[in-house]
Amino acid sequence: MSDFTSGFWNIYIGIITIVSIIACAVLLKALSTRKVSGAQVETTGHAWDEDLVELNNPLPRWWIWLFYITIVFGLVYLALYPGLGSFSGSYGWTSKKQYEEEVAKAEALSAPIYDKYAKTDLKQLASDPEAMAIGQKLFLNNCAQCHSSDARGGKGYPNLTDNDWIYGGAPETIEETIANGRKGMMPAWGALLGDDGVKDMAHYVMSLNGGTYDSLRAARGKDKFMTTCIACHGPEGKGNQAIGAEDLTKPNLLHGADEPSLIETISKGRTSVMPPQKEALGEARVHILAAYVWGLSNSPAATAPPAKTGGQ
Ligand code: HEC
Ligand code: HEC
Repeated sequence: MSDFTSGFWNIYIGIITIVSIIACAVLLKALSTRKVSGAQVETTGHAWDEDLVELNNPLPRWWIWLFYITIVFGLVYLALYPGLGSFSGSYGWTSKKQYEEEVAKAEALSAPIYDKYAKTDLKQLASDPEAMAIGQKLFLNNCAQCHSSDARGGKGYPNLTDNDWIYGGAPETIEETIANGRKGMMPAWGALLGDDGVKDMAHYVMSLNGGTYDSLRAARGKDKFMTTCIACHGPEGKGNQAIGAEDLTKPNLLHGADEPSLIETISKGRTSVMPPQKEALGEARVHILAAYVWGLSNSPAATAPPAKTGGQ
């Protein structure tokens, strides 16, 4: 398929390519038929160090033939592979097809490995060192760009190692999060509360999560919290995992717990997106990743079969 929006460019590029190749051939022919007259070889007329001159011999035959071969190669290539405007080549090769074939080959090789784990219970899987090594690799390739390579996240990207969950930490819930993604939407309150009202609210949130706060502002904020915010964050500010409204009583808030961050969060709102992985990675990999993530905060040893004792 061509990316050009008009048919003109296809033809334009095709013609330029063909004309250039023909021009090369003609030039080559003209040069190779030039005869050297007698034993007297022309010089270029340049002289260095008094008597050092540059001869102007025609190119050697074998050299000329190499050029002809490249021209033939070019023409054959253009007939077989895409290269001339939108002409797709008689061989039907596309980079997409090649990529898909390679992916299918790799899938066929790895499928039995993943199938082995797909039916294993998540907690049991988390105590299988081999599966967790695969899980870590998958995590580094697909998740580390947002959650960081040690899974501790950063501002706006949750820490996955602390057993403190926005959407819930049951193994099945984690699998659901990874497979289908999540989207947390906190509306903007700036227009409703005004600058001062937002600041009061920020101080109330700081009073909930152990920050230093102005008690007068916090008291004013609390009144409004009870009417404006409890629908999602609950009367005690402990949040709601079903919609991903964070627990505001914990010290490490996702978007920051200092006054400027809270003012920004409350006045402008926040939207956080965890992209769904089921399509891209397939259920088997998601299963391993869920076990890996669950294992990060729940010592796999806790669920491993009791270690054999004796023999000492
Ligand atoms: C584009 C960035 C991005 C990528 C890539 C990404 N995540 Fe996330 N993830 C997020 C964000 C942002 C959230 C928080 C969503 C929210 O608060 O609504 C999140 C949330 C989560 C949660 C829920 C945490 C909780 O406390 O409930 C889990 C589990 C998770 N991600 C695992 C993964 C895994 C495993 C991968 C790799 C397959 C991954 N994520 C890839 C951005 C990303
Ligand atoms: C419609 C439901 C809803 C209402 C009402 C709501 N919030 Fe939120 N809030 C959310 C969601 C969902 C998130 C998570 C956003 C994200 O994942 O980035 C959130 C996030 C936050 C955060 C950031 C938490 C963090 O970890 O960084 C703060 C602070 C907050 N809300 C305060 C408030 C305050 C104060 C009010 C009342 C003025 C309020 N919210 C009203 C749904 C709501």
